Amino acid sequence: MLRISVLVSGGGTNLQAIIDGIENGFIQGAELVQVISSNPEAYSLERAKKHKVPYMVIDKTNYPDKMERTKATLSALEEAQTDLVILAGYMCILESGLIEAYRGRIINIHPSLIPQFCGAGFYGKHVHEAVLAAGVLESGATVHYVDEGVDTGPIIIQEKVPVLEGDTPETLAARVLETEHKILPKAIKIVIASMAAEIGDR
Ligand code: GRF
Repeated sequence: MLRISVLVSGGGTNLQAIIDGIENGFIQGAELVQVISSNPEAYSLERAKKHKVPYMVIDKTNYPDKMERTKATLSALEEAQTDLVILAGYMCILESGLIEAYRGRIINIHPSLIPQFCGAGFYGKHVHEAVLAAGVLESGATVHYVDEGVDTGPIIIQEKVPVLEGDTPETLAARVLETEHKILPKAIKIVIASMAAEIGDR
């Protein structure tokens, strides 16, 4: 079984899509072994509790130093024998030490059609505000591997979402989020298949 750790900061609807995908059998051959939140108030933690997924908070309050946060995150991932790290609304930039340790085994979901509307400053509502300001007729969601850049690693899957007349950042975000919940479980299946040889029948 592929052991998945999910890093979160917020409401956790993408975490919920992973939980649901495993529970309803869409995602086979993987288990959710931990949730790590950078925010002690994140509703993601309630979702983890409800589904009996071990969770922990690694935030600026209990780990003020960035390197300490990275060290604590790395040891939590290793402690849980993590095979795959999923960033699902995780609002911290990963240090290179962590990316090195899990190169090719960290994926992220971003609420636009990368390489458009991504990179530094393009997160949450800012993405959808920029899409609307640009006047493009479609946006979308992307799941990609994480490398040292911001939203720059190889793309695993992406899906277009129409921008509709009268859209606000909120209405567009909600439509994109629905697509995120569809493509994230699909991306996980693709990654499981690609890692199957490595994981074997453990
Ligand atoms: C999603 O839009 C995701 O693309 C972005 O942050 C948001 C997280 O939402 N990275 P949730 O916490 O999964 O509901």
